Amino acid sequence: MVSKKMGKALNDQMNYEFYSAYVYLAMSADCESKGLKGFANWFYVQYQEETAHAMKFYNYILDQGIDVELDKMDKPKKSFKDLLEMYNETLSHEKEVTKRIYNLVDLALDERDHGTNAFLQWFVTEQVEEEASVNEILDQLKLVESSGNGIFMLDKELGQRTLPADAAAE
Ligand code: FEO
Repeated sequence: MVSKKMGKALNDQMNYEFYSAYVYLAMSADCESKGLKGFANWFYVQYQEETAHAMKFYNYILDQGIDVELDKMDKPKKSFKDLLEMYNETLSHEKEVTKRIYNLVDLALDERDHGTNAFLQWFVTEQVEEEASVNEILDQLKLVESSGNGIFMLDKELGQRTLPADAAAE
């Protein structure tokens, strides 16, 4: 059984993961409107991953016998200057998620809540991977700058991204 404080913190993070999904779905739509099908796919898979992250929290909250508290969400940004802006904002967003996950781990450790700490470790690893993959795309975007050929190649590559099997909510 988790504390009331932890229950609220877990609900906050579930809502933030749903908000993250919303942010990336808006980016996917903007890429679609610009004819960048591969980038749109990458952000769509990101949206699916964030929804799966939210559902992992949702299921954990229910398993702990706490009420799920779905909150209202801020409107996500709709259009972006270019891909660099999109991926810079994605990296900042993921850094914020990492900070929030670390705060949750700190709370679990303070409360000697080892069950929640174990649950959160999957997210600690996931955040390292998320930041690394966004950094890699940012590096590639900086390399190709605004070269049409380079963007075309990257778009083709990112069009291959699929949802990983371990993203599914348990
Ligand atoms: Fe669920 Fe991208 O953090």
